[in-house]
Amino acid sequence: MKIVELKNISKRFGTILANDDITLSIEQNKIHCIIGENGAGKSTLMKILFGIYKQDQGEIYIRGERVNFRNSHDAINLKIGMLHQHFMLIEDFTILENVILGAELSKGYKLDFEKSRVTITELIRKYDLDLNPDELVYKLSISEKQKVELLKLLYRNSEILILDEPTAVLTPIELKGFFKILNNFKAEGKTIILITHKLNEVKEISDKVSVLRKGKLVYETDKEKIDISELSRLIIGDIEDIPVRNKIDNGQALFKDYITVKNLSLIENGIIKLNNLNFALKKHSVFGICGVEGNGQNELIEVLIGLNKKFKGEIYPEKLVPAIVPDDRTKKGMIGEMSISENYFLREKNLRFAFKNILKNIELKFIKRFDISVPYSGCKVKYLSGGNQQKAIVAREIMLNHNILIFSHPTRGVDLRARDIIHNEIISERNKGKAIILISSDLDELLSLSDELAIIYKGTFLKVFLFSELKEKLESDRTSLLENIGELMMGVVK
Ligand SMILES: Nc1ncnc2c1ncn2[C@@H]1O[C@H](COP(=O)(O)OP(=O)(O)OP(=O)(O)O)[C@@H](O)[C@H]1O
Ligand SMILES: [Mg+2]
Repeated sequence: MKIVELKNISKRFGTILANDDITLSIEQNKIHCIIGENGAGKSTLMKILFGIYKQDQGEIYIRGERVNFRNSHDAINLKIGMLHQHFMLIEDFTILENVILGAELSKGYKLDFEKSRVTITELIRKYDLDLNPDELVYKLSISEKQKVELLKLLYRNSEILILDEPTAVLTPIELKGFFKILNNFKAEGKTIILITHKLNEVKEISDKVSVLRKGKLVYETDKEKIDISELSRLIIGDIEDIPVRNKIDNGQALFKDYITVKNLSLIENGIIKLNNLNFALKKHSVFGICGVEGNGQNELIEVLIGLNKKFKGEIYPEKLVPAIVPDDRTKKGMIGEMSISENYFLREKNLRFAFKNILKNIELKFIKRFDISVPYSGCKVKYLSGGNQQKAIVAREIMLNHNILIFSHPTRGVDLRARDIIHNEIISERNKGKAIILISSDLDELLSLSDELAIIYKGTFLKVFLFSELKEKLESDRTSLLENIGELMMGVVK
């Protein structure tokens, strides 16, 4: 049965036609993937289905009935739930509080924690979510926070789950668990709409896939006929391939240490956050740090850029002024109310006057070099699509031209073409002589860019693969290297 039918949906923002006459249906109890390049219109379409945006044209049918959503409460009443591209949890509340917040109040009930606790505990058990309802949310890892978001949807009895890029933040191991949960949902009769940029995930999990390009539905196919290379051609279109810039093999030893970190430790509230780290950043080199999020990566950055001074150990030179792409683009990356070039202006100390044409030129330069798509010139960053916001942050930090660059998940949420562009830019910065720290949970990314690779677990470098070792293992036995790294990320040392 068709549980959702979208007929001739169009939505315009200024001059941009974000959705252009899209007709698409979702079968009940299936996992349906929606894919497409950054700015293709995926989130917009899903926000229309969830009642956040109102379509300019077109009709929506849920379980065969025509609906006219005034807001997302109307969608929630029809058992539609949406997990947004960015988390919406209150960090100082417990899981239980976060889950019932809004759901109970909106119905005008008196809060009944004990009743809710029973329901929530049962949901956690039924869907194998492995969460403690009384845990405070700020203590959770990213993948646990995501499970809380799912729990919120389940608690509201959602039958149709819209998941906007939930997998972008997960490591390969967490991804397995996540897919298991999705399959549990399916076994219980739920319908899932999943947005992702990772085509092997589409192949693995979906029953059906739809491809959007520039606001239009351009292709649909069923599970059996999914062909990854065909999909990637459809997403990107016929644009010429981007040549991968080669890493110049610099032999490493030639370069002096740029930054030296000795015996760096950090203890906060009695918890060891960083444990005796020793490493050097060299010119012309990428120091990769690989780990499940929340294992000390953010604390290390805070210490390196001088935000946290309570550490023990030594860092030379003491004053670092790096460019930095933070892990959380909405909270730490940019000011949403400002345009791309105004955001650049804030960071660039040498620019004194923000004349309109200077700003416009900066924007044009960014857009061209990093393939950013903006609805109109001078558009506030908050109106860019998720992936385009990410590209804008990376562009800004690279253009600042600092000698040290810190990238935290630089390609999170960007499409395949932008991923190539960003990788090329990182290599090119390295080749120019910059020292780069690359934090990521994407193993392919780390292995193709890093000159040295440290695996961090609970604040400790369990292993640092030096340049020669990494090079040799990548050439001789990539698979066992991947396995080895995967185990180390989970704290398994053999
Ligand atoms: N509120 C808004 N105001 C103006 N333009 C908007 C608004 N929301 C989205 N857009 C524009 O509509 C287009 C489609 O954006 P959308 O967020 O749907 O893309 P997406 O396919 O989800 O991309 P991504 O993969 O980067 O998340 C983009 O050009 C975006 O800038
Ligand atoms: Mg989106």
